[in-house]
Amino acid sequence: MIMKHALIVAMGKHREIGKDNDLLWRLPRDMKIFKETTLNHVVVMGRKNWESIPEKFRPLPQRKNIILTRNKDYKAKNAIIIHDFKDISKHLDENEKCFIIGGAEIYQLALKHDFVDEMYITQVDETFEADTFFPFVNWENWEEEDLLKYEKDDKNPYSFTVKKYTK
Ligand SMILES: NC(=O)c1ccc[n+]([C@@H]2O[C@H](COP(=O)([O-])OP(=O)(O)OC[C@H]3O[C@@H](n4cnc5c(N)ncnc54)[C@H](OP(=O)(O)O)[C@@H]3O)[C@@H](O)[C@H]2O)c1
Repeated sequence: MIMKHALIVAMGKHREIGKDNDLLWRLPRDMKIFKETTLNHVVVMGRKNWESIPEKFRPLPQRKNIILTRNKDYKAKNAIIIHDFKDISKHLDENEKCFIIGGAEIYQLALKHDFVDEMYITQVDETFEADTFFPFVNWENWEEEDLLKYEKDDKNPYSFTVKKYTK
């Protein structure tokens, strides 16, 4: 079986994903979905995304964490550091599934290298002021499947939908 590689992202109505190296919202229900989806798999992230995760929560537990940086001296506890996107596969065991978890620069690399054939996209039903955006995607050849529609509540201030796209 050929293992599919995936990407997971949450974005606002204008593809916004972050500001000041932080997320734009707190949506515990979506965080739960992120955790359930990526648990026991490999997560690949940019150095900035890694640093945006509070120290006590990183590496993301029960997942092999891979960080991409150009800095040859970069150190991170209990994570694998790579300097070339193409080196991801060197660190994947057979049947290990890999999730690209951002940020924007790493999503862009994954799309450019045609690395993923699955995308889990949370579409938050709101617009936000942001400085980081998910890249444009050529939607031809992607099939859309609805996974969840969530109405805002006390703990989750915005409604959102989760869709899976498969190539
Ligand atoms: N909403 C979401 O789902 C979501 C998900 C993830 C992140 N985010 C947000 O996105 C923002 C961070 O995204 P970002 O685009 O600024 O940064 P990023 O993609 O997390 O990291 C960028 C860094 O990755 C390294 N890098 C990039 N291309 C590389 C290459 N070709 N080879 C080696 N290393 C490379 C560089 O590290 P060095 O500078 O160390 O060389 C670069 O500075 C934050 O606001 C975060 O909260 C949102």
